[in-house]
Amino acid sequence: MVDEDSKELRSLIEDTAEYVSYLRELGVAGVEEFAVDEDAIPSARKPDTRIAHEKSVASVSHALRRNAEAATEKVADEAAHPKPFEKSAIKSAAGLTEMAKRTPKRTPELEPPPPQETLFGEITPKDEASLPQVNETLEDIWNDIGECTRCPLNEGRTHVVNSEGHPRARLMFVGEAPGADEDAQARPFVGRAGQLLNKIIEAIGMKREDVFIGNVNRCRPPQNRTPTLAEAATCKPFLLREIAVVRPEVIVVLGNTAMKNLLDTKEGITKMRGQFLDYRGIKVMPTFHPAYLLRDPSKKRECWEDMKKVREYLDGKKQF
Ligand code: URA
Repeated sequence: MVDEDSKELRSLIEDTAEYVSYLRELGVAGVEEFAVDEDAIPSARKPDTRIAHEKSVASVSHALRRNAEAATEKVADEAAHPKPFEKSAIKSAAGLTEMAKRTPKRTPELEPPPPQETLFGEITPKDEASLPQVNETLEDIWNDIGECTRCPLNEGRTHVVNSEGHPRARLMFVGEAPGADEDAQARPFVGRAGQLLNKIIEAIGMKREDVFIGNVNRCRPPQNRTPTLAEAATCKPFLLREIAVVRPEVIVVLGNTAMKNLLDTKEGITKMRGQFLDYRGIKVMPTFHPAYLLRDPSKKRECWEDMKKVREYLDGKKQF
């Protein structure tokens, strides 16, 4: 038990240190230095060691939250100018893909350019493509993502799995990350969980083509593990940009990872599900992930209750 505790703490500390150095490498502002104190690990059960670790984790979370808030404010500002989005989003949906690729080709340079002040704090120019652009379309975002190598998940993937669906959808679903089927087909939610999601959508009288479906991460994590904080933080800006373009009325977050990445909450999905929350003026309904419902079908009933509320809200029958 004691050994296990120390092992777990060591792994947490190492993860945190790796994550902090990754953020610092990206030039993310406000992330404090973090060094692994090897001597502290064997005495992992000492309360002060745990407190030090928790403080470091809290400071990383705080920096991330501040950066994410700055980013989402800009995204919301851009959403306040709907006309150009609307026109160009519909154009891309209709398959009129004449649009010039906006992302400039970057010539290799001997020295990396200095970090710049941006929406996400100080970042190096290699991350410019994750920033929102004025009047962008879904296609612009997907071009920016390209054959992404921004985080280590690219190493194990076959395909980047971008979001799909109606570009002006009233309802959006957000999951965690692609699984094996999605990775093979380059489409979100096409495996068993996806088939259940289709049924959930149909149960509220909609079709898959009517909604917009995406994930926090676009590359399949090894062994379908949960994406790390760093992996989620790297990929999430693209999801936020898609939300700004599509501007759904309701976002259903499927499971803990999606919920915690979109909303500022420490609570788990079991507690949070079934109540409308807010993301920048958009109603957000947390519910169970379909993969969890496949493991525990008795929870489908609660998911159905949550989806009925979504239907009622979209029908304007009820104020929430
Ligand atoms: N699970 C997810 O979270 N996303 C998918 O695309 C498929 C399964």
